[in-house]
Amino acid sequence: MKAGGRMDKLREMALAAREQAYAPYSGFRVGAALAAQDGRIFAGANVENSSYGLTLCAERSAVAAAVAAGARTFSALYVVADSPVPVAPCGACRQVIAEFHIPLVIMANLAGEERRSSYAELLPYAFSTEMMEGGRK
Ligand code: THU
Repeated sequence: MKAGGRMDKLREMALAAREQAYAPYSGFRVGAALAAQDGRIFAGANVENSSYGLTLCAERSAVAAAVAAGARTFSALYVVADSPVPVAPCGACRQVIAEFHIPLVIMANLAGEERRSSYAELLPYAFSTEMMEGGRK
């Protein structure tokens, strides 16, 4: 990808969002940037809580920002942390990534290493709405 390209912009925004992460408990700051089909990019950061289980991951925080602004279709999600290998979305985030069929998920670290995947690769056999056929009977 050429310098100044779309991926550079995504990484830049994810890194900037990471700086805003609220992670006083783990100290592990994560940033995300979600590219919508209409060209807009939405940032997200992890938001921890003293009740640890309420923590919101950077990926879901980016999805929430995007959806609140009316975006529904996405082309790529970039996620970055200071990890020895590119940071991978947790299981809960994978289910949310699957909900929106995000075709390209770029996992990265501060060293600049990247891994690419799709929603389907990240969560095979994902639960989806077709499985609720037969509900409300
Ligand atoms: N975290 C994310 O925000 N995204 C990931 O992909 C992995 C984990 C956050 C949640 C928590 O605030 C911290 O990283 C440690 O688990």
